[in-house]
Amino acid sequence: MMLTYHTTTVEETQAVARALGAIVQPGDLLCLSGDLGAGKTTFTQGLARGLGVEEPVSSPTFTIIKEYDEGRIPLYHMDIYRLGESAAEEELGFDDYFYGEGVSVVEWAEWLQEVLPADRVQVVHNLTPTHREITFAATGPRSEARLKELEKTCPTWR
Ligand SMILES: Nc1ncnc2c1ncn2[C@@H]1O[C@H](COP(=O)(O)OP(=O)(O)OP(=O)(O)O)[C@@H](O)[C@H]1O
Ligand SMILES: [Mg+2]
Repeated sequence: MMLTYHTTTVEETQAVARALGAIVQPGDLLCLSGDLGAGKTTFTQGLARGLGVEEPVSSPTFTIIKEYDEGRIPLYHMDIYRLGESAAEEELGFDDYFYGEGVSVVEWAEWLQEVLPADRVQVVHNLTPTHREITFAATGPRSEARLKELEKTCPTWR
């Protein structure tokens, strides 16, 4: 299933993400793609709020992985951009995150393709001249269930 939202402000992007943050479960994986500045980190900040994380969420460009433990479940926020093509060969213990107790959110996940669990929510951020478009796609039963729930709690009326 696919779900598309259009947003014109940071607050709107974060409202969609917050709704998803309220329903994600341990072991869920969200793969965020889209150009530089498209809104992936902004989206993750909203998701963190939905989980109940109050500390500021910033881009993990240099640390690659940052963990936030104060929410309903842990948030593992990764930005793979700096690792580039060889990302999957890095021994950063990705599986401990993907199959752990929290939700994993990965910016530039395309570089990690080979090591990603098959069932995940793909989130594509697109910049258009007038607005931002956020498209969610499910790739298995787990992610499908999450998107069905998101559709209920955050209607696509925009
Ligand atoms: N509707 C919107 N949704 C999200 N961000 C928006 C929106 N309108 C404007 N912005 C601005 O766009 C920028 C998005 O930057 P952000 O760091 O979230 O992008 P990113 O996709 O994580 O980039 P990178 O690939 O460099 O990590 C922010 O400066 C934000 O204020
Ligand atoms: Mg970012």
